[in-house]
Amino acid sequence: MSLAGKRVLLIISGGIAAYKALELIRLLTKADCGVTCVLTKAGAQFVTPLSLQALSGAKIYTDLFSLTDESEMGHIELSRAADLVVVVPASADILAKMAAGLADDLATTLLLATDKQVLVVPAMNVRMWEHAATQANLATLTKRGVAIVPPDEGPMACGEFGPGRLAEPPVILAAIARMLGAGGPLAAKHALVTSGPTHEPIDPVRYLGNRSSGKQGHAIAAALAALGAKVTLVSGPVSIPDPLGVSVVHVETALEMLAAVQEALPADVAVCAAAVADWRVETLAAHKIKKTGSAPPALTLTENPDILRIISMPGPRRPKLVVGFAAETENLYIHAAAKRQRKGCDWIIANNVGGTGIMGGDSNEVTLINHAGEEIWPIMDKHEVAQKLAALIAQEVA
Ligand code: CTP
Repeated sequence: MSLAGKRVLLIISGGIAAYKALELIRLLTKADCGVTCVLTKAGAQFVTPLSLQALSGAKIYTDLFSLTDESEMGHIELSRAADLVVVVPASADILAKMAAGLADDLATTLLLATDKQVLVVPAMNVRMWEHAATQANLATLTKRGVAIVPPDEGPMACGEFGPGRLAEPPVILAAIARMLGAGGPLAAKHALVTSGPTHEPIDPVRYLGNRSSGKQGHAIAAALAALGAKVTLVSGPVSIPDPLGVSVVHVETALEMLAAVQEALPADVAVCAAAVADWRVETLAAHKIKKTGSAPPALTLTENPDILRIISMPGPRRPKLVVGFAAETENLYIHAAAKRQRKGCDWIIANNVGGTGIMGGDSNEVTLINHAGEEIWPIMDKHEVAQKLAALIAQEVA
C-alpha cells in the first residue's frame, strides 16, 4: 500500500497502549506516509519524544506554549498541514475533552482548530469504556463526523477482560488508508453533492425559504468521502457544521447554487439533495418593504433554473451517475417516477415529507427509483440512508 504524498498528524494521548503508536508510525512510514507527532503530557509518561522522533524522522510537538514552535509553525497551521488527524490511543479523558470542546493543551487545541477529518482509536479500561459518560462522548463525536476504530475485546493490561484494548496497528493503518482515499472504492472519483435549502431574497431583510436542514445532503457528502471520493458539497444556508474532509461551497440562492455546481463540474457522480426554491422574486426591493396601511404587497415570482435537470443533460460533462431527490407529500411513487423522467436523472430518492419531523428531522423513509423499478427502504437514521446510498453509488461508478 502506498500513502505517498499524504501526511497524518498523530496525537498520542496517555495510556499503556501508547507503545502501539510506535508500531503504527513504523507502518505509516513504510507506506511512505508523512507523520507529525503530538505527544500529550500523559502520553509522555508512556513513550518518549526520542523514540517517536527516531521512528517518524520528524520533530515532535509537546508544548502548546513553546514560542519556538509557534514561530516555526503555528498550532493552527500544524493541524491544517495534515490530511488527517489521528488520535492513538484516545484516552477517555481526551475523548471527553473533544466532546466538550476543551482546548487546554496542544493536542486538544489542534483538535478544536482542525478543518480535517479526525479518526480516534480509543483504548482504556473496560469499565471506563462502558461508562455512560464515555459512550455519550463517543456518540457526540460520531454525530460530528469523527471516525472511530473501536477497541478490541480481550485480556487487558489492568487484568480485566472485555472491550477496551487498542485495535491492532494494521487495522488502524487500514482505516487511515480508507480515510485518505487510498484503497476506498471511490478513490480518485469526484462526487458533487447539493444540500440544504436556498434562500431567495425579497428585500434586504426577508427571503423565501423552506424547512430543509441539509442533514441528509451533508450526511451523503460525508459518506461518499468516507469511501474515498473527493467531494464538493454545495450547500445552501444551514445551521449544521460542514462535514469534515469535504470541500464546501456556501451559497444562498438557487442562481448561486447553479453557478457553484457548474464551477465544480466535471464530476463522476452528482447527488442533488438540496431543496432548491422553485421561484425567486423577480425584482429585489432595494430597501425593506414597509407596511403602507393599504393592501399587502404582491410579489411577482420568476422560475429558478432546475439544477438537477441541467446537470442531467446529455453531454461530455454529464456525470456518469446523477441522483435526484423527490420530496413529495402525496402519490409518492407516481410523482417521483415522473420527476425522474422529466429531469433526466438516473436514480431518484423519493421521500414522503408529508409527516411531521421528516424535513429537519434525524431519520428518513425513502424509496429508490431507477430504471429497474423501485426499492423501498425501511425508516433509517439519515446517516444510515447516506451510507447505504454511498455504497450503491460505489458499486455503480467504481
Ligand atoms: N432541484 C434542482 N433545482 C431546482 C429544483 C429542484 O436541482 N430548481 C432538484 C432537487 O435538488 C431534487 C429534485 O430536483 O433533487 C426534485 O426537487 P423537488 O423540490 O422535489 O421537485 P421540483 O423539481 O421542485 O418539483 P415540484 O416542486 O413540482 O415537486
